[in-house]
Amino acid sequence: MPLIIRRATDADLAAILSIHRAAFPDEGSVADLTAALLCDPSAKPDLSLVALVDDKPVGHILFTAAHLQPGAAHRFSLLAPLGVAPERQRQGIGGRLIVEGLAILARSGVSAVFVLGHPAYYPRFGFMPAGSLGFAAPYPIPAKNADAWLVLLLEGKLSKPCGGTVRCAKALDHPELWRESVADPSFKPTDLGRF
Ligand SMILES: CC(C)(COP(=O)(O)OP(=O)(O)OC[C@H]1O[C@@H](n2cnc3c(N)ncnc32)[C@H](O)[C@@H]1OP(=O)(O)O)[C@@H](O)C(=O)NCCC(=O)NCCS
Repeated sequence: MPLIIRRATDADLAAILSIHRAAFPDEGSVADLTAALLCDPSAKPDLSLVALVDDKPVGHILFTAAHLQPGAAHRFSLLAPLGVAPERQRQGIGGRLIVEGLAILARSGVSAVFVLGHPAYYPRFGFMPAGSLGFAAPYPIPAKNADAWLVLLLEGKLSKPCGGTVRCAKALDHPELWRESVADPSFKPTDLGRF
């Protein structure tokens, strides 16, 4: 299966939203959130990548700008959302989007990438618990979900510990988005996290 990963363009918007609607069938808000983030000036610089099979978009990942408070002389990014069309899941596409996105961010000078996502999925890409490294989420994460707040330190970028509270784009700056119950007992394997 030839898979192409490239930067998304405005012409991909409808396909991107339809991927997220299909990937998060019970959460139409993820498609809405994606649309809002893509036109949110406070989310820039962002990195929006699509995965294509036979020229058809089947996956999308978005990284948006984040900052630390107190201020740090580093650039940060937040991964949200990531979605793969249901018929193309578990074929390595989500992983390729993550790996290629992280490589581009590392080359562009980003120091660390945050995500609120399932703790069984992201650590395989190098993500670690962010709270224990001193990084607080934009809004308090319920204790039972604390291990879903993760960070990936891009090699060689953070020479010394620099914790703080992460500030995100306006479209993500809503407390309800951070109360995800990924560690809830009712969590299903298909619900790999909020983002
Ligand atoms: C989560 C998601 C982005 C992963 O992308 P993907 O292309 O399917 O995943 P990959 O092929 O790169 O990785 C596969 C691994 O992810 C995990 N995984 C992916 N989908 C899964 C599912 N539905 N149930 C359980 N594990 C799953 C498994 O560990 C799997 O490894 P395995 O097949 O060896 O068991 C995709 O499944 C998706 O869009 N899901 C719905 C939306 C969502 O939950 N997004 C949030 C991401 S935190």
